[in-house]
Amino acid sequence: MSLQGAVGAEELIFYVNGRKVVEKNADPEQMLLFYLRKRLRLTGTKYGCGGGGCGACTVMISTYEPASKKIRHYSANACLLPICSLYGMAVTTVEGVGSTRTRIHPVQERLAKCHGSQCGFCTPGMVMSIYTLLRNHPEPTSEQMTAALAGNLCRCTGYRPILDACKTFCKDSVCCQSKANGRCCLDQEEDLFDREEKESVGLFSPDEFQPLDPTQEFIFPPELMRMAENQPKRTLVFHGERIMWISPVSLDELQDLKAAHPDAPLVVGNTGVGPDMKFRGVFHPIVIAPARIPDLNVVERMSDGLTIGAACSLSLMKDVLRNAVSELPEEKTKIFCAVLQQLRTLGGEQIRNVASLGGNIISRKSTSDLNPILAAGNCMLNLASQGGKRWIPLSDIFADGVGNNTIMPEEVLVSVRIPHSRKGEYISAFRQAPRRENALPIISAGMRVLFEEGTDKIKDLSIFYGGAASTTICAKQTCQTLIGRYWNEQMLDEASRLILNEIVLPDSAWDGKAEYKKTLIVSLFYKFFLEVLQSLKTMDPCHYPGIPMEYESILEDFQTKMPQSIQIYQAKLSQSPQDPVGRPIMHQSGIKHATGEAVYIDDIPSVDGELFLAVVTSSRAHAKIVSVDTSEALKEPGVFDVITANDVPATNEFHYSDDPEIIFARNKVICVGQIVCAVAADSYAHAKQAAAKVRIEYEALEPVILTIEDAIKHNSFFEPKRKLEHGNVDKAFETVDHILEGEIHIGGQEHFYMETQSVLAIPKGEDKEMDVYVSTQHPAFIQEMVAASLGVPANRIMCHVKRVGGAFGGKLLKAGLLASVASVAANKTNRAVRLILSRGDDMLITGGRHPFIGKYKVGFMKDGRIRTVDAKYYINGGCTPDESVLVAEVCLLKMDNAYKIPNLRCWAYACKTNLPSNTAFRGFGFPQSGLVTETWITEVAEKTGLSPEKVREINMYKEDEQTHFKQKLDPQNLIRCWNECMEKSAYYSRKTAIEEFNKQNYWKKKGIAIVPMKFPFGLGSRYLSQAAALVHIYTDGSVLLTHGGIELGQGIHTKMIQVASRELNIPMSYIHFCETSTTTVPNACASVGSAGTDVNGMAVKDACQTLLKRLQPIINKNPKGNWKDWIKEAFEQSVSLSATGYFRGYDANMDWEKGEGQPFTYFLYGTACSEVEINCLTGDHKNLRTDIVMDIGCSINPAVDIGQIEGAFVQGIGLYTMEELKYSPEGVLCTRGPDQYKIPAVCDIPEQFNVSLLSSSQNPYAIYSSKGLGEAGLFLGCSVFFALRDAITCVRNERGLKKTFALNSPLTAEQIRAACIDDFTKMVIGRWGNFLFNYL
Ligand SMILES: Cc1cc2nc3c(=O)[nH]c(=O)nc-3n(C[C@H](O)[C@H](O)[C@H](O)COP(=O)(O)OP(=O)(O)OC[C@H]3O[C@@H](n4cnc5c(N)ncnc54)[C@H](O)[C@@H]3O)c2cc1C
Ligand code: FES
Ligand code: FES
Repeated sequence: MSLQGAVGAEELIFYVNGRKVVEKNADPEQMLLFYLRKRLRLTGTKYGCGGGGCGACTVMISTYEPASKKIRHYSANACLLPICSLYGMAVTTVEGVGSTRTRIHPVQERLAKCHGSQCGFCTPGMVMSIYTLLRNHPEPTSEQMTAALAGNLCRCTGYRPILDACKTFCKDSVCCQSKANGRCCLDQEEDLFDREEKESVGLFSPDEFQPLDPTQEFIFPPELMRMAENQPKRTLVFHGERIMWISPVSLDELQDLKAAHPDAPLVVGNTGVGPDMKFRGVFHPIVIAPARIPDLNVVERMSDGLTIGAACSLSLMKDVLRNAVSELPEEKTKIFCAVLQQLRTLGGEQIRNVASLGGNIISRKSTSDLNPILAAGNCMLNLASQGGKRWIPLSDIFADGVGNNTIMPEEVLVSVRIPHSRKGEYISAFRQAPRRENALPIISAGMRVLFEEGTDKIKDLSIFYGGAASTTICAKQTCQTLIGRYWNEQMLDEASRLILNEIVLPDSAWDGKAEYKKTLIVSLFYKFFLEVLQSLKTMDPCHYPGIPMEYESILEDFQTKMPQSIQIYQAKLSQSPQDPVGRPIMHQSGIKHATGEAVYIDDIPSVDGELFLAVVTSSRAHAKIVSVDTSEALKEPGVFDVITANDVPATNEFHYSDDPEIIFARNKVICVGQIVCAVAADSYAHAKQAAAKVRIEYEALEPVILTIEDAIKHNSFFEPKRKLEHGNVDKAFETVDHILEGEIHIGGQEHFYMETQSVLAIPKGEDKEMDVYVSTQHPAFIQEMVAASLGVPANRIMCHVKRVGGAFGGKLLKAGLLASVASVAANKTNRAVRLILSRGDDMLITGGRHPFIGKYKVGFMKDGRIRTVDAKYYINGGCTPDESVLVAEVCLLKMDNAYKIPNLRCWAYACKTNLPSNTAFRGFGFPQSGLVTETWITEVAEKTGLSPEKVREINMYKEDEQTHFKQKLDPQNLIRCWNECMEKSAYYSRKTAIEEFNKQNYWKKKGIAIVPMKFPFGLGSRYLSQAAALVHIYTDGSVLLTHGGIELGQGIHTKMIQVASRELNIPMSYIHFCETSTTTVPNACASVGSAGTDVNGMAVKDACQTLLKRLQPIINKNPKGNWKDWIKEAFEQSVSLSATGYFRGYDANMDWEKGEGQPFTYFLYGTACSEVEINCLTGDHKNLRTDIVMDIGCSINPAVDIGQIEGAFVQGIGLYTMEELKYSPEGVLCTRGPDQYKIPAVCDIPEQFNVSLLSSSQNPYAIYSSKGLGEAGLFLGCSVFFALRDAITCVRNERGLKKTFALNSPLTAEQIRAACIDDFTKMVIGRWGNFLFNYL
C-alpha cells in the first residue's frame, strides 16, 4: 500500500501526569524513558538496563476503550515503550503519584517509613508497580503484591522492607501491622540480660501512615476520552530521523502495508523488536504498529475453544483464560490451565502488560514459554494477507525445525484459536529458568497425551521443547513411535531414550548448558509421566494406582509466597526521648527516593552545549592496535569529536604498582571491553550510532590468558604473592588421623549497582577549573586521577557526590578512569560532557568480584578436631592490578573464619589475565576464602561421620585467642551468636523435621545449615581510616553538616545527622546534609570496608564537640534559653560557628615478612541458619527460612543496620547460588544485562527471614560502641549454599552415591541437578558425562 490516503499525524498527543503533551516531531526510535527524562525533565523514572529486565523505569499507562467505556491501568517499562505507541494514552510517572511539594502518596510514604529504600535508585520503579496494582485493586492479596513486584529488581535491600511496606496494603497480610499502640501482632517484648536494654521488634510505626484513599488519584483525562469517543480512528504516521512508524486501523490496510513492506516488523509491545534494535544491531527503516486494529484484539469464546487476537497482551490473555477456567468444566480447560501455568512466571508484570500473544508466537524465539505449550495443545493460527485468510496449526511453523518458512513475509497473524481439551486428554507445561520469575527459560516444554477411550493406551502424543535449539522443536518421531503404547514404566524408558536421540542439542550452546538441558528434557517428560499417572488414578482409582506417596510432592511447583519476617534489636531504656541514636530512623532521603526527587548524576539538568559520550571498546582480549579509523564516525549526525589517548594532556597510565591502570588503550589492548576511544555528540543516541562506526584494526598478540588455570600455566601473576604460616604444618600432617584434599571454584560476581557508572564533567571556563559530578565511593581519588590526567593541580578539580545509586566496591578506581575519560573529553571540547554507561557497557568494562580457585589439604582427627591446613588461593585479577593484591591479602587474613587452626599455611596469588580488571566487592576476598573454609569443614564432617555443626563447634574459637597472624580476639560474642541462632532457629527440632520430610519425599528434599562468622573490621593502616567533617551553624540555628563519607545507600548521612543531633543536643530536623565534595572535606578516604560510619562518625562528633565547647559558656549563662538564642548570642559575641572535625584513623599494621600484625581494629560476629528445599528433577530450589543473629555492638540505627545485614545476605545468596558470569572462549563477557545475569528477585528471598541483633554487646573502638557492618552479612549467604549441600547429601546417601563430592559456587540449578544423580542423568552422555564423573 502506498501511504496515500493515510492522514499523516504530524502531532503525537498523549498525557503525562495529567498534562497534555503534543509532540510535533515524534521519533519512532525514541522510547518513553528518555522522552520523560530528557524532554520533559521528569527524572524520577530511572534507567537501569534499557531492556525491560529491571523495572527501574516502571510507569503506569492508562487507556480508555470507548466500546466498553472501561479505563485500563497497567504498569509498563518506559525503556521499551516507543512514544509513538502512546497516542491517546495517559502516562503516570512517580512525579505524578506524589511529591514533597504537593502531597506524598501513601505508597511513597510507607516505602520510605518502612525503610524500603537504601540507595533509592530502584524505589521509583517499586512505587509505580505498587501504585498501579493499587489503582486496580485497592485491597490486593499478598499473591497479587508479590506478582506485581516480580519485574522489579533491588540490589540493596534484600526486598524484606519493601515487602513490609507492601503488606500494609494487603488485605490478607498475616501480620496486622496496625495495632493501636503502633506495634505488630507478632511483637513480643522480653526483658533481656539487663535492665538497660529492652528487646524491640518492629522498625516502623503503622499508626503514622496516611490511609489509602483511591478517590484522590488522577482521573483519566476527559480530553482523551472525547478523542477516543468522537474522533474516528485514522492511520497515524510518524517520521523520525531514520525510521517511519505507521499505525493502521483496519486489517485491509495492514495487509496492504505488509504487501508493500514485507520486511517491516509489526510492533505491538516492542519487547522483542526493541531489544533486537537496541542491543543486537537490528535496524528497520519502517515499522508497522497494528495494535489499534479491532480484528487483532478480538476475544471470542467458541463452542470448542477460545479465539484470542494476536495483539492482545499476555496479561489480557491471562485474565481471559482465568475466567474461562473458572466458568468451564475442568475437562475442557486443561490446555488453558497449562498456558496459565507458563503465563504466571513469563517476564514480569510490566512485560506481560504490553507483550502480545502474536509477538511471542511469531518471534519464534527458542526461549518462548508459550510456543511449546500452544503447539502441543493443537492451537491454530489465523493468518491474513492480500491473498486471503487461512488457518494453520501453530505446530506447522516449527515443522521444519528452524521455524521460518511457513508464514509468508506479507502475512500477518490475526488471532489464535486455543481449543478445549477433550476427555482422556492430558496436557502440561513446564519450564526451568535461572530464576523462578522474570527469567527466560533454560528449557520450556509443552506435552499432551490423548488416550484411547477408557484406557491408558496412547492415541495421540505431542512433545515440544523450547530452549533446546534455535526455535521451538518437536519430538515428532518419538511421539509417532509411542502411539499404541500403554502409559507405564516401559513406555517411559523407551520414550526417554527416543527423546534423547531425537532432540539433538548443539554442543556449542553459548551458555554451555547443553548437558543440563538434555537432562531437563528427559526429567520434564518424567514429570509429565507422573502427572498423567496421578490424573489417571483420579479418573479411575480401581485401575490406576497412581504414583507412590513419596513421589507426590514433585507434582507441585515452588510458589512465591509473601515472606514473613521478624527483626529484633535492643532499645535503650534510659535514653532521652530526644536522642535519636539507637533508634530506627528513616533514611534521610527516603521520601525523596520514593517521590523520585532524589537527584543522581544523570538527573542533573543539562548544561548549555553539553555533549554525550559513548565509549568504543576493544573486541579483542590481547592484541596490538594497528589502526583506529574514526573518519566514518565523524561524519555521523550530531558528532562533535572523537577522543583518544592522544587527547590526554598528561597522565594516561597510572602506575600505582608495577602494571599501570589505563584510561585509553594506546598501542595495544589487554582485554575485551578496554576503552579505546570515545565519541562525543549532541545526544547519547548519536554518540552511540557513531561509536559503532569507529573501525579498529588489530593484530593478535600471544598469549591470551583468560582463566586462573591459564595464568598458572603462564606464571602470570601480579606481585607480591602472599603467604601466611603458623605452627608446624608438615609435622602436624604426620600425626593426624585423616587427610583430605580438595578444590573449589568460585565464580565472579557483577556488582549490578542499579545506577550504572555516571559522570558529568563541566569545565568552568577559567583557571582550568572543572566541576566533576561522579557516582563514586571516593571523590578525593577521582579528583587526583582527573587532575593527573589533565595535568592540573588538584585544587582546580572539584568533585561532587550527592548520592550514589549503589556501589558495593565497584565505584572506586573504575569510576576514576571513567571520570578521567569524561574530563579529558570536556577539556578537549571545552564543553560539559556526560558519560552514563549503558548497563551492557558497564558490565563489560568495569569488572567485578574476583573468580577464585581454592585448593586445600586438611589434616584432622577422628573426633573432628582440625589440626593442620595447607591452602592455596588463586584469584583472577584481570588485566590490571586494581586492588587484586589487597584482595588476595584479605583472603589470607580472614580465611580462618570462626575457627582456630593450630597449624596453618596459606598462599594467595592474584592472577594477571586478559579479562577486564576485577576490583573491590563487598566482603573483599572473605566471601571466597570463607567459603573454602566452610567447604572443608563440611568435608571433615562427612569423613568423620559427625554433623557439620558439631565440627564447627569443635573447631570454633573459644577463649581469648590469637588469630593465625597473632592478633588477639575475644570470641565470646561469636559463641553467643552461635548459641542464640541455634536457639532462635530451633535448629535441632527443625533438623529432625527435615529428616522426617526427606524420608517421606523422594524427588524433593530439604536441607539445613548453620554457619558462624567472624568478620574482622579494619582497613590495614591508619592513614586509610582517617576522616574529617565540617559543621557550620547558621545564625538562624540551622546546621549544615558535611563529612568525607559517601551515601551509597548505607544510610551514612542519616547516621551522621543522628550523631550530630546527639552531640549538639538538637533535633535532627535542624541539621541538613547537602553533598560530599572535595571542596569542603579534602583528601577524604574512600567509603569502603564498612568503615564509613566508624570513622566519619568520630570526625562529626569531634566537630560538634568543638562547637559545643565554644557554645558552652553561653549555654551556662542562659541555661533556660534555647538553641536559637544561644546561636544568636554566639554570633553577637563573635564566636566562630563553624568547625572541622578530624579522626586520625585506627592504628593498624601487618608485617607480611613475619606473617604477624594487628591489621584489624575489632571483630564482628554472626551466625546464620538457612533451610532450603530442592527439586531433584530440575535442580530448582526454594529458600524456606533464614535466621540471622549478628553482633554489631550498639546499633546507631537498627533499621539501617538490619537493612544492611539483609541486603548483604541476599547479595550473598546471589553470589553463592545464582549469579553466573559467562565468557566466550575469546574472552567476551556474554552476560551483559539482567536478561542473562540473574541477581536475586523477590522470589528468591527466604519465606521466613528473621534477623536479631545481639544484645549487650559493646565495642570500645567505634563511635557509640557500634560496629561497621556493611559487608559482613554477605558471607552468611553461604548458609544457603551449605543447606543446599545438605539436601544434596541426603539425596546422594539415599541413592548410595559417593559420599564426598565437590560443589562449586554458584551452586546453580544445573549443578544441583548434576549432583542428584539418577537414571536420567546417567542417560545423558557427552561433556556432562565427565562432569558427572565427580558425582558418581
Ligand atoms: C524482559 C523480558 C522478559 C521476557 N521474558 C519472557 C519469558 O519469560 N518467556 C517468554 O516466553 N517470553 C519472554 N519474553 C519475550 C516476550 O514475551 C516477547 O518478546 C513478546 O511476547 C513479544 O510481543 P511484543 O508484542 O512485544 O512483540 P514485538 O516486539 O512488538 O514484535 C515481535 C515480533 O513479532 C512480530 N509480530 C508481532 N505481532 C505480529 C502479528 N500479529 N503478525 C505477524 N507478526 C507479528 C513482529 O513482526 C516482530 O518480529 C520476555 C521479553 C522481555 C523483554
Ligand atoms: S530500565 Fe527499563 S526495565 Fe530496566
Ligand atoms: S535501594 Fe533498591 S537498588 Fe538500591
